[in-house]
Amino acid sequence: MIEYVVLCAVGVEKVLCNEIKHLGYKIEKTLPGKVYVKADEDFIYTANINLRTAERIMMVLKTFHAITFDSLYENIKSIGWSDYIPKNTNVEITKLSSVKSQLFALSSIQSVSHKAIYDSLKISYNQTEHLSTDRQSLEIRLYLNSDIAEVCLDLSGEPLHKRGYRKLVSQAPLKETIASAMLLTSGWKRKFPLYDPFCGSGTIPIEAALYAMNIAPGLYRSFSIQNLKFYNQDRFIKAKQLAVSKIREYDASEFSICASDKDKEIISCAIKNADNFKLTQYITFITESMEKLVDRSGIGYVVTNPPYGKRIRDEKYATKVYEQMRYLKKVFKSWTYVIITDSDDFESYFDMKASKKLTIHNGSIVNTVYTFDNAPGNSVNL
Ligand SMILES: C[S@@+](CC[C@H](N)C(=O)[O-])C[C@H]1O[C@@H](n2cnc3c(N)ncnc32)[C@H](O)[C@@H]1O
Repeated sequence: MIEYVVLCAVGVEKVLCNEIKHLGYKIEKTLPGKVYVKADEDFIYTANINLRTAERIMMVLKTFHAITFDSLYENIKSIGWSDYIPKNTNVEITKLSSVKSQLFALSSIQSVSHKAIYDSLKISYNQTEHLSTDRQSLEIRLYLNSDIAEVCLDLSGEPLHKRGYRKLVSQAPLKETIASAMLLTSGWKRKFPLYDPFCGSGTIPIEAALYAMNIAPGLYRSFSIQNLKFYNQDRFIKAKQLAVSKIREYDASEFSICASDKDKEIISCAIKNADNFKLTQYITFITESMEKLVDRSGIGYVVTNPPYGKRIRDEKYATKVYEQMRYLKKVFKSWTYVIITDSDDFESYFDMKASKKLTIHNGSIVNTVYTFDNAPGNSVNL
């Protein structure tokens, strides 16, 4: 059994755990932004291809006690680096953290660790030259917490939110993984209509269409495991074939995913993005202001990401939009609203009490996903 750590945005751990369990794996432990799994080698391929809310899959190479630079060096050097890293490959330590540990000078930790890796590779490959920085690099992360060091090898490469369909983006695009986390926590299912009235570059409706058709988000991209020495092409192909066999071919008329934005140009970007994954026939894109939308009957889900005050540096404009969003309650009367924003006061602007709130850290911005369950009997005005 190999130990893996799956990274995600802080706040998304529970949703990610459910996804991992759904793939048939057991969770070992969870920390903020990290889910640990012990699994076989297939996990590398299955997780990279299928997980919608994971940012990165890493292999834990070694966990050890380190209070001196000598022990840090010796422990890292003793990892069988040549089992993982091919000859003449650059290795970069891209993330380093030290919390409550005696070793805390990050630049010294970085240079000692880097030297240990290169000294080990030098011996294994009889390599003497210093590798250039323009070669392809493989990424290592080193976490020190209470004097326990954890050395992790990246198996994803580009972060997993980069699915490959979003070539054009709006002013403040939502990460694909966070759009998926919104959908997975909302309880939305393919049988319910979905509407995004502030769709920007189309992330939410595109992630919804992928989910509805059970299309694995990583099916059309590559991963850094493909550059590692223990890459197993047969396992990768098998995992892809399995994901393809699970795609549900639906007729576009079988579900209703609609998205609009007041900006005509951004709607044409969203259409191009959807087209990159051949999804345009499954999503109706409309250029329209939210204030002009017309009544939708029945029940469904409004899942949306209105303009963020802090991100666009215009809080006055954002709060005006939030108040205008009360109009959604008239148009989508008995629908559930799932809204992500950086505002702590969104409930009062929207004049409704959320039935569920999920805090998600997106870099330095703290967002809340508010769910307003508006089924008859559940609606509470403030
Ligand atoms: C935060 S962005 C949405 C980003 C989107 N989720 C994405 O991933 O690209 C907000 C969007 O709301 C649109 N918008 C702002 N005010 C609007 C209004 N009154 N009606 C409709 N769209 C509006 C903007 O054009 C912008 O594209």
